[in-house]
Amino acid sequence: MDQSSDELVGLYEVAEMARVSRTVVANWRARDPRFPRPIADLRSGPVFRSTQIRRYLKRRKKHMAHVIATINLKGGVGKTTTTVALAEFLSSEFGKKVLVIDLDPQTNLTTVLIGEERWEKLNDAGYTLHTLFLDALRAEGEPALFDLDKTLQRGVSPVREVRSVDLLPSSLDLIDVQDRLASMSSGRFYSNNPTDLLWRAVKRILDDYDYVLVDCPPNLGIVTLNGLRIADGYIIPTIPDVLSTYGIPQIQGRVRAFADDLQEPIAEVGIVVTKYRNQSTLHNNTIRRLRGDDKLPPVFDTLVPEANSIAASAEHAGTSTLRQKYGYAGQFDVFRDLAREFIQQVDEEAV
Ligand SMILES: Nc1ncnc2c1ncn2[C@@H]1O[C@H](COP(=O)(O)OP(=O)(O)OP(=O)(O)O)[C@@H](O)[C@H]1O
Ligand SMILES: [Mg+2]
Repeated sequence: MDQSSDELVGLYEVAEMARVSRTVVANWRARDPRFPRPIADLRSGPVFRSTQIRRYLKRRKKHMAHVIATINLKGGVGKTTTTVALAEFLSSEFGKKVLVIDLDPQTNLTTVLIGEERWEKLNDAGYTLHTLFLDALRAEGEPALFDLDKTLQRGVSPVREVRSVDLLPSSLDLIDVQDRLASMSSGRFYSNNPTDLLWRAVKRILDDYDYVLVDCPPNLGIVTLNGLRIADGYIIPTIPDVLSTYGIPQIQGRVRAFADDLQEPIAEVGIVVTKYRNQSTLHNNTIRRLRGDDKLPPVFDTLVPEANSIAASAEHAGTSTLRQKYGYAGQFDVFRDLAREFIQQVDEEAV
């Protein structure tokens, strides 16, 4: 991949990113051997790769968002349910500011959070991520139509106690764009890398959040790669059975190859077991196998059980509390545990 596709920043921008003065940045640079090396020294001063700077600032415990993608090539394994629950619990139980980005043309995550009616209005007005990708397919010189501020939906979630979850909604129309992007010749994108579109559009708001969760479609196409491009790490929700876990090594391989191209690590944060039935020998054996294989990402201790109340949470229905939404028979505690573990795991991996 063309490295110049990464954003370059000067010392002034580094100071802005870190919200400190330029003198402070100059001091870091002079004294801290971990400070990234400039990739060029221009007359106007040194320039750095912004992803390396972000990583450095994160290590200095400067506020930077943790951007985590949710991936599995298998459909229906609980990706969207896990993403929504993490967002809601990180917000309500742990006081985090969360952005969720729905990259799946099925728009499930979007409709769970804002309902179909509101989605339809946004879709008619062009305020979805579909417009962003469509812009990339328009002829050179045509004005871009994507409007980040109007597309960003603030304070979503039908649960009253969830206050700090924002959403970038998806659109059913995204499926066509995905196919068209995939069939474009790469020459068309000489100056406009097709895996870079999301990054370019959202980079200025990412660090307004503590966590950015990206729900990806069940494939590794261009739209998913756009999600991985902004991600520091990823989780793999899976049902603990043979078919659902079969593709995990393949995902690891593909993500690693993409990360190598970017020359940026994308951490394997972990496997989240979903729809777990504790009476099932198959489920228990599969979990043992996943835990025993050190080539696979770590498996979260918290196992999300199969439960009618969790299935029902996919409906966009107003409730006051997360207990009401996810169920009183322990499901609330499971998701709170999962969110707590997620925070620890993401911190540990320094992603
Ligand atoms: N723990 C659970 N218990 C019972 N039902 C669940 C659970 N988790 C998810 N479901 C249900 O299973 C279905 C698939 O879940 P979900 O939409 O989260 O999967 P997905 O991996 O995002 O699917 P897709 O690949 O289509 O995007 C949904 O109907 C959801 O409500
Ligand atoms: Mg989904």
